[in-house]
Amino acid sequence: MAASKFPSSLLVYFIVIAVCMQICKGNPKIPLPKLHVPLFIFGDSLFDAGNNNYINTPFQSNFWPYGETFFNFPTGRFSDGRLIPDFIAKYANLPFIHPYLNPTNKNYLHGVNFASAGAGALVETQQGFVIDLKTQLSYFNKVRKVFEEVGGGHEGGAKALLSRAVYLINIGSNDYLAPFLTNSTLFQSHSPQQYVDLVIGNLTTVIKGIYKNGGRKFAFFGVGPLGCFPLVKAVILQGKDECFDEITELAKLHNKHLYKTLLRLEKKLEGFVYTYVDSFTVVIELLNNPAKYGLKEGKVACCGSGPFRGYFSCGGRNGEEYKLCNNPSQHLFFDATHFTDKANQLYAELLWNGNLQTIKPYNLKTLFHV
Ligand SMILES: *[C@@H]1O[C@H](CO)[C@@H](O)[C@H](O)[C@H]1NC(C)=O
Ligand SMILES: *[C@@H]1O[C@H](CO)[C@@H](O)[C@H](O)[C@H]1NC(C)=O
Repeated sequence: MAASKFPSSLLVYFIVIAVCMQICKGNPKIPLPKLHVPLFIFGDSLFDAGNNNYINTPFQSNFWPYGETFFNFPTGRFSDGRLIPDFIAKYANLPFIHPYLNPTNKNYLHGVNFASAGAGALVETQQGFVIDLKTQLSYFNKVRKVFEEVGGGHEGGAKALLSRAVYLINIGSNDYLAPFLTNSTLFQSHSPQQYVDLVIGNLTTVIKGIYKNGGRKFAFFGVGPLGCFPLVKAVILQGKDECFDEITELAKLHNKHLYKTLLRLEKKLEGFVYTYVDSFTVVIELLNNPAKYGLKEGKVACCGSGPFRGYFSCGGRNGEEYKLCNNPSQHLFFDATHFTDKANQLYAELLWNGNLQTIKPYNLKTLFHV
C-alpha cells in the first residue's frame, strides 16, 4: 500500500512542477485567483489587530483575558476574539489580514491592517501614543510601492489589484471621546460644527490620498452611539443609566457630514465607489434589542469594573481589581468601549448581507464584487 502510494504522489509532484514551469515562466510570483480582492484596513481600536503591540502606548490589549474566546491568546485585538474586519475577511474568502507593524508580515497581497487603537483623524487625538490616520496613509504609500514590485506579475498588475481592493475605514470615535476625558484646546477653541469640520476635513485628505494611490472601493463606518457606551456611563455620567447627549450630538453631526462628503467625492473622483455603514443605527439596535440577536446583556460590559463595568481595568495590568463574566458571547460589550467576538460577528453579518437600514448604497458582499 505505502509503496504504491509514494510513487504516485511523487508523480503528482513532478506534474505540478512541470505545469508550473510552463505557467509560472516569467511570473515566479505567488499565484492568486484571477479576481483576488485584497482588503486594506484603516482606523482605531475597533479594527486594530495588533499594530499597537509594536508602539509605546497605554492603548494596548495584548494581555489576558483579551483573546480568551477565539484565539486563546492575546493578539492585541480589543475583544475576547475577532474584530469586524476579521469576519469580513472570512466572508470574502481571505485569511486574517495582518497588522502592518508585525515584523513577520511580509505578504501584503491579501491586504494590510494599518489601524491603531486610540487613533483619530486629528493628529492631536492621543498624540504620541497612536498611529494617527495620516501616518496610516503614509504606511499605505509604502505598501503600494511593495505592491508594484511583487504584484506586477499578476493579471492587470499592481494597479488593478489596488483598484479592486476594498478599503475599510473606521475613524472618529476617539476624536469625539478624547476631549471629554482629557483637556483638548482644539475642541475648546472650536464650535462643535467647526470641530466636526476639522475631523471630516482630515479624513477627506486621507481618502484622497488612498484614491491617489489607486484605491477605488471604500467602506466607511460612521461613529456609533458613543454616549451610551459603558465608559461614558461610568466616567462621565457617574453610573447613570442614560446616554450622554453632548457626545451623541457630535456623533450624529459627524455622520451627517461624512455622508454628505461621500456624495460630493463620488461626483468629484472618477471611479470612486463607496458604501456607508450606519454604525449608529446598528449599535443602537444591538444595545436596545440584545435578545433579538441572541445576546443577554447589551449594557454591562463583560470585563472591567465600576458601573456597567465601564472603567478600563480589564486584565488588571496596573494591578486594578476587575470583574470578568463567564460567557462573553452573551454580552454586546467586552470592555468599556469594545465589542465581544459574538457582537462583532453579528455586526459583520448585518453589513455583509446588509440592507439600506444598516449600510448604503451597497452591502459589503456587493462592494467586494462590483
Ligand atoms: C485640564 O486643565 C485644567 C486647567 O486648565 C487643569 O486644572 C486640569 O488638571 C487639566 N486636566 C487634565 C486631565 O489634564
Ligand atoms: C486637519 O486638522 C488640523 C488640526 O489637527 C487642522 O488644523 C486642519 O485645518 C485640518 N485640515 C482640514 C483639511 O480640515
